[in-house]
Amino acid sequence: MSEDMRYLTFALGKGRLAKNTMDLFEKVGITCEEMKDKDSRKLIFVNEELKLKFFLAKGPDVPTYVEYGAADIGVVGKDTILEENRRVYEVLDLGYGKCRMCVCGPAKAKELLKHHEMIRVTSKYPNIAKDYFYNKKHQTVDIIKLNGSVELGPIVGLGDVIVDIVETGSTLKENGLEVLEEICPLSARMIVNQVSMKMEAERIKKLIQDLRAFL
Ligand code: PRP
Repeated sequence: MSEDMRYLTFALGKGRLAKNTMDLFEKVGITCEEMKDKDSRKLIFVNEELKLKFFLAKGPDVPTYVEYGAADIGVVGKDTILEENRRVYEVLDLGYGKCRMCVCGPAKAKELLKHHEMIRVTSKYPNIAKDYFYNKKHQTVDIIKLNGSVELGPIVGLGDVIVDIVETGSTLKENGLEVLEEICPLSARMIVNQVSMKMEAERIKKLIQDLRAFL
C-alpha cells in the first residue's frame, strides 16, 4: 500500500451484524485483528497495512455516518436504510440477517386492514409504516412510534396492529399475534457515501466485486 493512500472507513451496525460482516470480509482478505479483542473498549479499529478503519455504531446511525462521509462504507439492515432514508448508495445485498417487515396483529385485526378503516399502528419504524399505509395502501392511519418490544402495542391496547420485523415468528406466536400483511423482505446491505464512490472508486469497486464473487 502506498504511503499517501487514505484510509477507507467502515461503519458497522453493532452486534451480530458486525460479527457476520467481519466474518464475511475476512473471506475476501479484509481483516482487522484489533477488533477481535473482546475486552477492548476501543471505538475505532485500524488495519494500518490495508489502510482501513472500522467503527461500530447503533444501527440507525450508520446511514447518517455514511451520508455525511464520516464513514465511506456502512453495513446495516435494509429496515434501517428504508427508515432513515439517507442519501447514500445501496450497493450490495450481503445475504445475512434475512427477515421480513410485516404488519402484524391479532387475527381479528385482519378485517381492519380490508376496509380502509382508521386504525392505530405502533412501530419502531414510523417512516416505513407511513409509506406503506399512505402510499401503497392509501389507508389513513394513526402511527405511534415505540422504541422496542413493539408487540406490546396491540396486547395492552395501545394500537390495533404493529409494523415490525419478523424473523422466526416466535415472538408473534408467543404473544398471540400473527403476520397480517407482508411489506418487504429484509437483509444486511452495504451502503456507500456518494462522494467516496467517485473518489475511491477503484478500491470500493474492487471490494464490491470481491464480495459479489464470494457471495
Ligand atoms: C426483533 C423484532 C421482533 C423480533 C422478531 O426485536 O422487533 O420483536 O425481533 O424475531 P422473531 O420473529 O424471531 O421472534 P429485537 O429482539 O431486535 O428487540 P426489540 O423488540 O426491542 O426491537
